Amino acid sequence: MYVCLCQGVTDGQIREAVMDGCCSFRDVRETLGVAKQCGKCACLAKEIIRETITELQTTQASLAYPAEYSVA
Ligand code: FES
Repeated sequence: MYVCLCQGVTDGQIREAVMDGCCSFRDVRETLGVAKQCGKCACLAKEIIRETITELQTTQASLAYPAEYSVA
């Protein structure tokens, strides 16, 4: 879905930018140009960035220990 109509940026592009190393709204803004004109997309873009970072952290945390590892 299009998040930023001014720049033609989709939610998929934002998620991909985060997965490629952007770790803040500022990084994504500089990389994709999102929210650089009217700014109406900023809130949704931030939400998507936050969700994606949380997903990445959850995924990485679950990969940090082998499946059979348990904290006793
Ligand atoms: S909709 Fe993103 S800057 Fe206007």
